Amino acid sequence: MSLYAHITGWGMAVPEQILTNDDLARQVDTSDEWIQSRTGIRERRIANGDESTATLAVEASLRALQVANLDPMDLDLIIVSTSSPEYIFPATACLVQDRLGAGNAGAFDLLAACTGFIYALNIGTQAIRSGAIRNALIIGAETLSRLVDWKDRNTCILFGDGAGAFVLQASPERGGVISAVMRSDGSGGDLLILPGGCSRMPATYETVASGKHYIQMNGREVFRFATRVMAQATEEAVRKAELTIKDVQLVIPHQANQRIIEAALRSLNFPMEQCVINLDRYGNTSTASIPIATCEAIQQGRLKAGDTVVFVGFGAGLTWGAAVAVWSGPQPVVRRMLPLRLRLYARLRSWIRRFLRRIDAMIWGRHNPPI
Ligand code: UT7
Repeated sequence: MSLYAHITGWGMAVPEQILTNDDLARQVDTSDEWIQSRTGIRERRIANGDESTATLAVEASLRALQVANLDPMDLDLIIVSTSSPEYIFPATACLVQDRLGAGNAGAFDLLAACTGFIYALNIGTQAIRSGAIRNALIIGAETLSRLVDWKDRNTCILFGDGAGAFVLQASPERGGVISAVMRSDGSGGDLLILPGGCSRMPATYETVASGKHYIQMNGREVFRFATRVMAQATEEAVRKAELTIKDVQLVIPHQANQRIIEAALRSLNFPMEQCVINLDRYGNTSTASIPIATCEAIQQGRLKAGDTVVFVGFGAGLTWGAAVAVWSGPQPVVRRMLPLRLRLYARLRSWIRRFLRRIDAMIWGRHNPPI
């Protein structure tokens, strides 16, 4: 029996704090006019001290689980796509798993920069289609505001914080994610890079002083690459789904730059009215931008059950990719999922597990005294 991976839940979370172009113009040599005309961005959301990649991911996930009416204990897999994880390890996905109380799920982070959500969507889909798992939670979450140099006008005007999540569920009915392409070209790795802080360049006073822990970007080259691959990836994914671009009702692109999106759609000969753009309000939230734009498209009634939608993105790596999905909409409600109760249950579960681990360590220590 063929299995399909349907998107049955979706959710987004963005910080409340807004940073406008005028606010930025008070910090660096730029202007609202320059930013809007070159990128389309008007404002972006910035995480406050209590918010982080994991907290935004958990908020988005709870909303997605609520739409899907799925208990976290029924999740088999959690993938957090992010370039701004809480730590190198443990994976942010494990923190999310704990805070959701998803006791039966494997969890890992995926790093494919702004294309990450497409990669995660495809990996989750393949795991479901193989029959290995039934339910997956796919999250794109970022707090890139913590990684940009707020004195570098080339980058600080672009990025914003946020998270979006999809629930994927197995069904024998044809639909859900029906094709995807994932591509990479590491020869362009230096075009968009955060060089410091890992094994290649561990943190030292010098790396910190010379700004190696901030995002560095060759904007023009990334721009040229993006306009080329967005159209290519879309065409390839549509062809793989045995469709044509005329069969597509909505394109939801990575929200990096309005001019990149316009150029890509022009070369696809696809109408702008059938494309979702919300970068004016959120800036580039990297891997979170596609699920956030999807949530807003649903809120606005632009995505209905049965519609064919293309997700397409590009980013550091270099990476790029696209996925075609037949929109499923939520399944019939079978039970009520209460986020507050879930959150309390997850906290209690986590506390009990830590407590038991401590007791276990004490007992183990008594029976295995140090030599
Ligand atoms: O998710 C992937 C993440 N990255 C991207 O998507 C980046 C893709 N690239 C872009 O979006 C664009 O290349 C930028 C928005 C970053 C830059 O736009 P551009 O039209 O490619 O500008 P440019 O880099 O060619 O710079 C034009 C001028 C330069 O001055 P000169 O050399 O002509 O005197 C820059 O120094 O604009 C200057 N400039 C700025 N001026 C005011 C660069 N940044 C700014 C700024 N405000 N923020």
